[in-house]
Amino acid sequence: MFTRRAFLRGAGIAGTYTLASLRADALERVASAVAASDTRTAAEIATDETFWREIQQAFTLDRTIINLNNGGVCPSPRVVHEALKRYLDISNQSPVYHMWQILEPNIESVRRELARELGCDKEELAITRNASEALQIAQLGLDLQPGDEVLTTNQDYGRMLNTWRQRVRRDAIKLNEIAFPVPPPSLADLVQRFEQAITPRTKVIHFCHITNLTGQIFPMKEICALARARGIKTIVDGAHAFAHFPFDLSELGCDYYGTSLHKWLLAPIGTGFLYVRRENIRGLWPMQPASESQDGDIRKFEEIGTHPAANHNAIAEALTFHRGIGVERKLARLQYLRLRWAERLRKHPRIQIFTSFDPAQAGAIGTVGVEGIPPGKIVTHLWNTRRIIVTPIVHAEYAGMRVTPNVYTTLDEVDVFAEALEEVAEKGLPA
Ligand SMILES: Cc1ncc(COP(=O)(O)O)c(C=O)c1O
Repeated sequence: MFTRRAFLRGAGIAGTYTLASLRADALERVASAVAASDTRTAAEIATDETFWREIQQAFTLDRTIINLNNGGVCPSPRVVHEALKRYLDISNQSPVYHMWQILEPNIESVRRELARELGCDKEELAITRNASEALQIAQLGLDLQPGDEVLTTNQDYGRMLNTWRQRVRRDAIKLNEIAFPVPPPSLADLVQRFEQAITPRTKVIHFCHITNLTGQIFPMKEICALARARGIKTIVDGAHAFAHFPFDLSELGCDYYGTSLHKWLLAPIGTGFLYVRRENIRGLWPMQPASESQDGDIRKFEEIGTHPAANHNAIAEALTFHRGIGVERKLARLQYLRLRWAERLRKHPRIQIFTSFDPAQAGAIGTVGVEGIPPGKIVTHLWNTRRIIVTPIVHAEYAGMRVTPNVYTTLDEVDVFAEALEEVAEKGLPA
């Protein structure tokens, strides 16, 4: 099998081609930047502004706005957006032919490459329209009996919790939501919390690979191992994980994994995937029914009726862009950007950071609060005074603002945010 290590060995060459296509006039500079970067570590490249300038310019952004809410949905690089538009134009010539016969069959190339990137067989990966669809297929497609228990956390994604709550009302299953501090004292503490909450009726453990609220990364391998040892199925919400930090799914041992691709892969809006471990495919009902002959086929989860082929085919271009940067380099840069504001702000006595400073527990996402000031008011102030976009996070146990840069974010943008929040912490909000 094509391993991540094998890919990384080849990343220098792939990177040169991808970056070179970002801006025609930057060819020579990019080629030499990438060639030079080959001998350096990801951490060294994270601080090389010449390297990241080329990435920043691969996007068609509105730089009058400082978008630090890349936890919601992300812009695609120009090459991806152009592929999307091109495929839409091709489709519209005569969709029954150009879309269904020319473009649609190429979804198989996308499946193959996503599976290779994730670390699974292509026959275990279904392409969906978002993470919600992927996860709901798993959540709603499992046969559960009244009284069966699902174990999750009270910091899982709202829509996914609502999906389970609907099953509680409809099928009389039981939902057990555990709490955990932010940041937690350790990764082992998170595993322990799950272990202690398992009962003889627990049939499913559902958790985030990385949470959307504070960007906490979970010890997926350990939680999946304890579930597997007890015959419990695991559904992992990887909406923020894929293409954000490196991992090989084949080493992590989950049963079902759902992600968005319009977040960290920077693919067109309306893209995601569902991984289903091979032995579980037959036993999982699709959300939209498929023919019995497809019972054992991962493609039964893609029987959704007419839909654009452009979105899912342009995933291939996003994957090429992502590989051009390299996921280790990307994570190192994202952590560097988060630490730039978080290290500065943590010194202030009124500022509280809810995201761990342990590099194994956080990537781009960081959540921060200012004592005594409601986050919603700060969010409005940041927008009104500096056109900064961050998002309020209000949980029963804490409240703050989620700050999420991306590969296109500049140091100046991060600094404008840090300065603005420092000012709020010092002087409060204007009356
Ligand atoms: C943790 C988590 N799970 C699931 C989702 C749903 O993703 P999508 O909007 O792609 O359906 C999100 C979206 O923000 C999320 O943050």
